[in-house]
Amino acid sequence: MEFNTVLQRRYSCRSFAAQAVEQEKVERILEVGRIAPTAVNKQPVHVWAVSEPGMLEAIKGVTRSNYGAPLILVVGCRPADAWVRRYDGKNGAEVDAAIVATHLLLAAENEGLSTLWVGSFDPALLKTILPDADAYELVAMINVGYPSADSTPSPMHGSRISMEEFVTKLV
Ligand SMILES: Cc1cc2nc3c(=O)[nH]c(=O)nc-3n(C[C@H](O)[C@H](O)[C@H](O)COP(=O)(O)O)c2cc1C
Repeated sequence: MEFNTVLQRRYSCRSFAAQAVEQEKVERILEVGRIAPTAVNKQPVHVWAVSEPGMLEAIKGVTRSNYGAPLILVVGCRPADAWVRRYDGKNGAEVDAAIVATHLLLAAENEGLSTLWVGSFDPALLKTILPDADAYELVAMINVGYPSADSTPSPMHGSRISMEEFVTKLV
């Protein structure tokens, strides 16, 4: 898909069809996540790709943002393995995870799928469901699937700060 089309078609989908995401699409999406850039290439990130029905059911308990997505990509990071900025000690793990999550989101859109970034979830509870998640900070649950026939963008999709507020051009 043309890149600008990918960006323009994306909106937060809050109504997914039951149709599963084809495995070859899942693999292509994950590959785009894997090659995302990270600070000093530390790659302190991990993704749990959840499509098993029992697991999806269990995950419903960790968030109020449940919209029936057949695939949830949980993105986590390990601060202990991340680059740390020497000037102020800022840990880069969460930024790295956000880049990976954005890659996954846009890669899914490029496959003709719809997505929702869910950040409002109980990370402690989610850790009890995912295998080997203890050492990770869980950053995002990227919901992926086909939109239901009546899925539409929310009013927030069309609401953005003006270009003047958004940018300070120092030319
Ligand atoms: C970091 C982050 C966390 C978000 N968390 C949630 C969430 O928990 N539940 C939800 O319904 N939407 C969530 N969203 C979606 C935003 O509400 C949405 O992106 C925003 O309102 C703009 O709408 P649009 O994505 O349709 O353009 C999140 C988005 C981001 C970037």
